[in-house]
Parts: sequence; structure tokens; C-alpha cells
Amino acid sequence: MSALIIGGTGTTGRLLAPLLPGARIGTRKPLHDNHVRFDWDDPATFDGAVDGVDRVYLIPPVGVADPAPAVESFLSRARHVRRVVLLSSSAVPESTTGMGALPALVRSMPEWAVLRPSWFMQNFTGDHVVAAGVRDGEIVTATGDGRVAFIDAADIAAVAARALTDPLPHNTDHLITGPQALSYAEAAAVITEVTGRPVRHRSVSTEELTERLATGLPREFATILARLDEDIRGGAEDRVTSTVEDVTGRPARSFRDFVSRTSTG
Ligand SMILES: NC(=O)c1ccc[n+]([C@@H]2O[C@H](COP(=O)([O-])OP(=O)(O)OC[C@H]3O[C@@H](n4cnc5c(N)ncnc54)[C@H](OP(=O)(O)O)[C@@H]3O)[C@@H](O)[C@H]2O)c1
Repeated sequence: MSALIIGGTGTTGRLLAPLLPGARIGTRKPLHDNHVRFDWDDPATFDGAVDGVDRVYLIPPVGVADPAPAVESFLSRARHVRRVVLLSSSAVPESTTGMGALPALVRSMPEWAVLRPSWFMQNFTGDHVVAAGVRDGEIVTATGDGRVAFIDAADIAAVAARALTDPLPHNTDHLITGPQALSYAEAAAVITEVTGRPVRHRSVSTEELTERLATGLPREFATILARLDEDIRGGAEDRVTSTVEDVTGRPARSFRDFVSRTSTG
């Protein structure tokens, strides 16, 4: 087995890499022997990255409103690849263009799985806008009291590893959530309790959030993200699945456990 992990330096990919010894990591800036140059914006890198590979973990172009043309072009050069596992999202319905068009492309491969994780717990750490809110003591969203069953990226990586290596292909969509749906106010309260640092949540309108996000992102993408918050406000993410336990044999990590672990390093 020889795997290519696109986004192998990113949130889920870097947690998946240790679970797939010998995997090749696609990155725009190769630094190590197991790295290969891969850039969604440079199709000339596709052939070299996928040469000799029989399975691919596919993170689509990040922050792009319509990643389908690039993914279609990549898959057309990856016809020798047996299995593709796509990282999609629970928040993205199937459609003919945009992110929602990607599952249909991947299902054309001989073996496949589509991962549909809920929102990442890792958004509360690192560079994400929610993490900046945690540092400022105020998380700003347009989600109102809507709940999200936040998922640890390590649990997504564990499901991805099984989807890539199980002898029988999964050939299915996996809706992946954490064990409990929380509003952002409830998540902020957990952070406050566990870390002792006061963090609160303020909900704004979809329009106000779009304006805030558009200061750092292309407006088209800011609009998409703000609308996803609106969906959360309407209850779209208020659901819990047993996928992590069903696929890996162990339960998904709770948000409290995640915060305890990250706040103590
Ligand atoms: N955040 C969430 O709550 C959430 C929830 C559900 C689904 N998702 C999905 O998760 C995916 C990743 O989200 P994330 O924010 O956590 O990002 P991430 O995985 O940390 O993304 C960064 C990764 O993408 C690679 N990358 C960036 N631009 C690239 C390019 N032009 N060509 C090749 N590789 C490139 C980076 O590699 P190098 O810098 O090394 O090149 C890095 O490995 C997205 O598709 C998103 O829809 C996210």
C-alpha cells in the first residue's frame, strides 16, 4: 500500500500521517524525505505527487469557493489510484458546483469514502477566527443558540485511517460528530471552567459576521462561512452520530476532554 496525504501538514492530515507509516505527504513546501511537492494551484505538481500511489486522502483546495475544477483535474490524472477518501463537511450539502460537487467526483473512483465531519474542536485553538475569540475572551458567531457536536480532528484522522486501510472499502459517507452537541455559549462556559480564563459568546447577524470575516477573507468565501453559521442557528448541526466508535471501536473525545488536554499542553 502506498498512500498520498494531501494536506498532510494540516489539521487532520498531520494527525493521519503517523497512522499510515510510509505515506507520502503532499505539501507546497516539502521539507522532509516523505514530503512531495503538491499545490492545488499548480497542476504540474499532480503527476509527480500521485505517481506510484494507490490511495489518496484528499483535502480539497482550502478557502476556495469552487474547488471542483481543480479536484476533477487531479482525479483525471489519478486513474491508477484505487481508493480515495475525501474530507468533506457535515455542513456542505451535495450540489452540482462548489464543495458540494466533490463527493460525486470521488464516488467515480473504484473505492472511496466521503468523510463529513462536524465542526472541528481545533477551531478553538491555533489560527482559526474562533480561537482568536477565545484569546480575546469573546467568541463572535452568527449561530445564536444553535448547537454543534464539535469533533476532535484526531478522531477524524482515526476514521480516515480505517477508511484508507480496511481491506474492504467503505464506499460510503461517514457523518462524523463528537459525543455531545454544544452551543458556542456552552462551549465557552466549558473553556472558562476548565482553564479559569473567562470566555463568553456573542451572537451577531449573518450580515455583520460576513463583514467581520471579509476583512481577512475573500468576500465570496466570507459569505459562505457566515451562511454556515446561519444554518447552525437553525439547528442543522444539532445531532450526534456514533461513527467514530462504529468505525474505530473507541468513543469520540468530548469537548471538555479536548480543552483539558490542550490547556495543559
Ligand atoms: N474547520 C472545521 O471546522 C471544518 C469542519 C468540517 C470540514 N472542514 C474541512 O476541512 C478542510 C481543512 O480545513 P482546515 O481549515 O483544518 O485546513 P488544514 O487542513 O489545516 O489546511 C491546511 C492544509 O492544506 C494545505 N494546503 C493549503 N493550500 C494548499 C494548496 N494550494 N495546495 C496544496 N495544499 C494546500 C496545507 O499544506 P501546506 O501549507 O503544507 O502546503 C495544509 O496541509 C477543509 O476542506 C474544510 O472544509 C473543516
